Amino acid sequence: MKHIAVFASGNGSNAENIIRYFNLQDLGWKVSVVVSNRADAYVLQRAARHGVPSVVMTKAQFNNQAEMSLVLDQYSVDAIVLAGFLLMIPTWLIARYPDSIINIHPSLLPKYGGRGMYGRHVHEAVVAAGERESGITIHLVNEDCDGGKVLYQASTEVLPEDSAEDVERKIHELEEVYYPAVIASTLTGCELGECMAKVMMH
Ligand code: GRF
Repeated sequence: MKHIAVFASGNGSNAENIIRYFNLQDLGWKVSVVVSNRADAYVLQRAARHGVPSVVMTKAQFNNQAEMSLVLDQYSVDAIVLAGFLLMIPTWLIARYPDSIINIHPSLLPKYGGRGMYGRHVHEAVVAAGERESGITIHLVNEDCDGGKVLYQASTEVLPEDSAEDVERKIHELEEVYYPAVIASTLTGCELGECMAKVMMH
């Protein structure tokens, strides 16, 4: 069995979908730990509900190579998945997990990416610019903020009357369908269609 660490800072709907996908069926990979930089993040309750251990680390602890390595070793982490994680990933961590750190960004990168473009800010910018479509970008993480190799993009229509909340809801629907499957395809090498067939909608 190989092990995934999910890093998340907030609500954790993506984290929970990923846990469901990998931990409720036998794919050779499972989520062994959730790491959060916020003690009050709702993702911690979601992890607990699924019996997945979680670790809360301050920004300083997270950036401390020795401390972070202890956690990664303790949970035998082979790959890292970011799911609404708001800290930058240090260079040493990227070097330790080459092509094995995956992120999702809630826009069609390179549009609406980079510093300050996260969560609701992205959808507000999309609506303010009068865009007629938005989407998700699933990508590998490298040293450039939102700049790693794109693994998959999916788009959705933005209607003139859509609010930022409406766009956010549409984006979450795309994330639910695609993120676990693209992670599985990247890690296990299965065809995306095959991986999609294993998505358990609720
Ligand atoms: C998602 O929209 C994801 O694309 C972005 O942050 C949001 C996290 O939502 N990176 P949740 O915490 O998974 O509900």
